[in-house]
Amino acid sequence: MKLQKLTLTLPDRKIDYFLGTRILHLIPDLLEKQKYTAEIVMIIDSSVNELYGEKITEILKQRSFSPHLILIPPGESNKNLHQAVLLYEQFCKLNITRRTPVIAFGGGVATDLVGFAASTFMRGLPLILVPTTLLAQADAAVGGKTGVNLKQGKNLIGSFYHPEAVFLDLEFLKTLPAKEICGGMAEIVKMGFLEGEKRIREIEKTMEEIQTIRGKSGGEWLEKIHPSLYHAIQKKITIVEKDPYEKKERMILNLGHTFAHGIEAAGNYKKYSHGEAVAVGLVGACLLAEEILKFPQAHTRRIETLLKKIGLPVRYKKLNPLEIFNYMTQDKKKTEMLRFILPKKIGEVVICDKASPSLVLKILEKLRGD
Ligand code: GLY
Repeated sequence: MKLQKLTLTLPDRKIDYFLGTRILHLIPDLLEKQKYTAEIVMIIDSSVNELYGEKITEILKQRSFSPHLILIPPGESNKNLHQAVLLYEQFCKLNITRRTPVIAFGGGVATDLVGFAASTFMRGLPLILVPTTLLAQADAAVGGKTGVNLKQGKNLIGSFYHPEAVFLDLEFLKTLPAKEICGGMAEIVKMGFLEGEKRIREIEKTMEEIQTIRGKSGGEWLEKIHPSLYHAIQKKITIVEKDPYEKKERMILNLGHTFAHGIEAAGNYKKYSHGEAVAVGLVGACLLAEEILKFPQAHTRRIETLLKKIGLPVRYKKLNPLEIFNYMTQDKKKTEMLRFILPKKIGEVVICDKASPSLVLKILEKLRGD
């Protein structure tokens, strides 16, 4: 698989995103070029460490770097201030300086948490991201958001802090459970939906070829989903370049997310993964857009068919719609009315602040699968 480089251009700097297979040797190349210290802080999700830790350490040691390994526990419940403080304490113990690079390996929890710690310790350390899940490669590690959760809500504390570079190695995806791949595909469908007809057709075609992700090893579908992942990252980069601090255009990345946040929270962040909730949320946005923007019902069906084919849910089960609604209104992005990103057609969305609570509840009823 050919190495691809995508570049996010900000007013004052450029960030390279390297996408390919077995590309970790590019990390020491970058470290040497930037003339960072030979001491490196390598922060790695403990489940990723079991599979890849030794190999990564070896790559760095072979090039005369001294990696200090810090393990972080997996899971959304560990994306919190306590874990950030534990990282700060380790940074102090290691006497690191502002020239000490921090490299994060893991899914969105790791890249968000480590990104947050790196952005705040000594007002900013050089950060390198190596996302190891499809969800993190397609979304979390792209665009410079970092964050930790409070018990009052997800990502309530965070910063915009861009890494020096991001290494998206598809090899990691080979050992990911199918459920995780499906979750990442939900964000890829969302990005295709934002981009337009051509991209949705491409994902549909890919899914026709793969049939289903469940029960298949990564080797079989990796090559096939590669173009869709590439285009999802490219689309996100284009949006972030226009609006790095989410003042306006970047909000469209929240397509499907207003319903998704409510569903995730009502399921106590256990019943539905983020990607699964986004899949149901995308259908919710389509159903609401049918009512408000005359979004064609046939297009809702088309998106549903694609999500189902991937292996994602398109309805929620065993959750109370009123409870979902209450969580939606607690969302940190709320305005007086709930804010939705709604499709006018595939490839065109608008920000909508005028959905009445009764209409939202009606859609939540429609989204019930039991
Ligand atoms: N995940 C949405 C964003 O990066 O803006």
